[in-house]
This record gives sequence, structure tokens and C-alpha cells, in this order.
Amino acid sequence: MRRLDFLRVGGLLGLGGVLSSFTRPSDTASLDEVLATKIKTAGLTGSAFDLSVAPISRVRVAVFGLGNRGQSLIDMLNWLVQEGHAEITAISDINPTKISRAQQQIAEFQQSAPRVFTGTPDAWMEAMSDDVADVALICTPWELHTPMAVAAMRGRMHAASEVPIAYTPEACVELVQVAEETQRHCIMLENCCYNREELWLLNMIQDGVFGTVTHAECAYLHDLRALMLDPTYYEDQWRLKHHFARNGNLYTTHGLGPVCMYFDILRGDTLTHLTSMSSKEAALSEALRNSKDKKLQKMAKDVVCGDVNTTLIGTAKGRSIMLQFDVHSGRPYNRLDKVVGSKATHYGYPSRLYIDHGADWGGHHWLEDTEKTEYQDRYEHPLWERLQKLAAEHPQGHGGMDFVMMYRLIRCLNLGQQLDLNVYDGAMWSMVGALSEASVAAGSKRMDIPDMTAGRWKQSVPHPVNRSLDA
Ligand SMILES: NC(=O)c1ccc[n+]([C@@H]2O[C@H](COP(=O)([O-])OP(=O)(O)OC[C@H]3O[C@@H](n4cnc5c(N)ncnc54)[C@H](O)[C@@H]3O)[C@@H](O)[C@H]2O)c1
Repeated sequence: MRRLDFLRVGGLLGLGGVLSSFTRPSDTASLDEVLATKIKTAGLTGSAFDLSVAPISRVRVAVFGLGNRGQSLIDMLNWLVQEGHAEITAISDINPTKISRAQQQIAEFQQSAPRVFTGTPDAWMEAMSDDVADVALICTPWELHTPMAVAAMRGRMHAASEVPIAYTPEACVELVQVAEETQRHCIMLENCCYNREELWLLNMIQDGVFGTVTHAECAYLHDLRALMLDPTYYEDQWRLKHHFARNGNLYTTHGLGPVCMYFDILRGDTLTHLTSMSSKEAALSEALRNSKDKKLQKMAKDVVCGDVNTTLIGTAKGRSIMLQFDVHSGRPYNRLDKVVGSKATHYGYPSRLYIDHGADWGGHHWLEDTEKTEYQDRYEHPLWERLQKLAAEHPQGHGGMDFVMMYRLIRCLNLGQQLDLNVYDGAMWSMVGALSEASVAAGSKRMDIPDMTAGRWKQSVPHPVNRSLDA
């Protein structure tokens, strides 16, 4: 109980409490130094880098947050439960309707009923024990991700959190520190790393089709105004509130995660520094002002997050990344997925591939569809090749990538193998978001991205996502 009291007293559960003093403008000048000291004091050793634990033949899963994402990830567990690889042993939410909906959903494919943790905003804390489950699947609003992941690990469970797993520099460090101390898995569930196109590109890059990769452009561009304004979509409109308190890139990982795989980030290269700029804000406040709801109209003045955030990131090996975030403006969904190499270039949305034939060739056209299909067939990622039939036959989630992601998480745990992404990946991709806010607040100041791996990133090792699990 002392641990639970600490979380409550520490004020970690209210949004105000979670917004770190690090990200406030007055503190940003010394953030690099403060962060370096914090990492030194934390005594990080890299000891959770390729962590594996004893095989768990049937993974007991506790699901926290049964809203849009929680329901969808429960669907992703359907096949794994029926095959005996997993069992949902606990569910938690503050909303009774969502509890009963999840109970019905689970009853359709699992005989045993999960334990229920509900009734108060802190009820989830009682579920954070390896008596209840092996892994905590965290699908709550952002402000609960780090407290829940930390509590899970301290309760001897593994933590698997939705994105972003943290949004302050100190929370990123804390996650790494606790994962090292407890030797528990802590994975950020970045589903776009498992998308067919991204895995195809990864395979081509690793096979040398792109030559030396030098630059990438990625993003999360998704008009979320209607969903954020809808009083019933996000519980208590939690997502909108972040746009009243923070300005920067609030959702880095769908774009950045795959690019970090393309660039061997933490497996031979690392992100070293960034600078970030937010445009003025207009689209979200206009939407609020034009709403029929008087309460929403009044909120128009509260928006502080700029419409378009652009962050430039450098790597130790001299690569550059342009990362954008915009959930305010009306435009089609886009993650850009641009990669530039010395021998090929890819642009996403729609997917276009250019193969370079040398400086004197003079070709300026994307490959014809038939030529591109040849590359797609030749370089289909083995993971997708193996799982696409299963993914197609089951509830897919975002075109199949969610199924592949959940399959890999559960099967790695079944087989006692390291996970595809480790705590350092999630903490670094989340750190970029936190530092983008600090940079914006300090007039686009350059921010150093700290090493939380104790130098492990320098080892050039194959990315675990390329392993066949042979099972
Ligand atoms: N990877 C993806 O493609 C993807 C897609 C959608 C959402 N997400 C992420 O999933 C998370 C949830 O988003 P969502 O759209 O499902 O939001 P949501 O509001 O629909 O769901 C959040 C749920 O958490 C519950 N909750 C809130 N406080 C709680 C507490 N104290 N204890 C237990 N439960 C609590 C809410 O009642 C709600 O049911 C977010 O982090 C979001 O970024 C990821």
C-alpha cells in the first residue's frame, strides 16, 4: 500500500501533476544539464537492453483502459486466447459501461471471466501484481501510461503500453531506471513498426536497395478535430485537454518508430539532437468556436498547441529526420514515410519508389506500378509473409499491423525471447516529444537527446523484429 500512497501523494495521476517542470519555459535553458545529471544519478547501465525472461506458456494479460484502443486490442487477443497462448485475467476501467462491454466481448472467445478492477480512479493499482497477470496492457489516456507501467514493473509484471509511453523527460528516465532495476519488459506498443509498407522498406534498406540511407521524413498528420470535440469519443475529452496544456509534438511515435528501425537507431546509430518549431494555432480553436456546444465554444481561447509542429532530428552517424505533427488541420491522413538513400528514394501516401541508376541516367520518374510490385514481391518482409494469412483471417486492426504486433508480443513472451522493442526504444521515441516541447518553449533551441542506454546503442546488432520466432 505504501507504493500506492506514494503514487497518489506524488500527484502523478492528475494532468497538472504529470506536466513536468522540465517542460516549462523558465526551466528549458538548463534542461540538457539537468537531464544529464538525472540520467547519471539514475545510474542507468543498459541492463534491460536485450532482456529475456523465462518462457510463459500462457500469458496472463490485464487490460487497463477499455475505450477505443482497449477494445481493439482485446480483439487482437482473440486468436491468441483460442490457441492457448494467452488469457485475459483482468480488466480495469473507471466507466462501468465499458467494463460490461469488455466482459461481453471477452466472453465471446474466452471461457474464464477476467477479474474486474473498477469503482475509483485508483482501482487499477490493486491489479498491478503478478498474482493477477503477467503483463499489463495499458490503453488509458496518456497521463496514466508511465504511472501504470512503473507500477506494473514494480508489481513484477511486464508493461506493454500504448503510445506515447511517456511525455516528460523525467518519466522517460524513470521507465528505463525501473525496467533495469526490476528486470521486467517495458515495451511501447508502436503498431506502425509492423505495417506492411514499413516492414517492406526495412527489408529493402537492410538488403542494400537504398544504398546508404541519409534522410527520412515522417509524421502523424490526422485530422482529429471531430473526435476531440465529440464529448463521447475520448473519455472525459482527455485528448483535447493536452492541447490546452502543451505545445510541441504530442504524438511522435507512429512516424518516428519505423524510421528508427530504418536507421538502426540504438543498434549502431542514435538520435543525438533536435530543434522544434510549432506554427501558430488556428484550426482547433476555430472548430471549438464554431461548435454548437457553449462549453466547447468557451474552450477556444485555451488551445496552446500550434497546428503544425515540425521537428528536425540529427543522428550520431549524420543522418537527418524531419518529423511532423498535426491533428488540427483538415487534410487526409498521412505519415509521409519518406526515405532517401544513395541508391533509392521512397515517398508514402501513396507509396512511390525511385531506383537510382546513377548521375548520368537522367531518370526523373517513380517506378511504374508493375516494376514497384516486383520490388514489393521480392522484398516482402518475412514477418508479414508468414503472418499475413493469419492477420487476414482475424480481426485485423489498422490493416493487419495490430494483429502482427500483438502476435509478436505474446509469442515472444511464450518463448522466453527478447521483445521486438525494448524500454530504451520507447523511452527515446517518447523523449523526442518531450524535448520538442522544451525546444518550442525556448524559441526552437537545440536540445540534446540523452543516451539512456549507457553506450549500448554503439553495438551494431540486427533488429529483433527481423527474427523468425519459428513457432
Ligand atoms: N496505436 C494506435 O494506433 C492507437 C489508436 C488509438 C489510440 N491509441 C492510444 O490508446 C490510448 C487510449 O486511447 P483511446 O482512443 O482508447 O481513448 P479512450 O478515451 O477511448 O479510452 C481510454 C479509456 O481509459 C479509461 N480510463 C481513464 N482513466 C482510468 C483510470 N484511472 N483507470 C482505468 N481506466 C481509466 C477510460 O474510461 C477509457 O475507457 C491512448 O494512449 C491513445 O494514444 C493508439
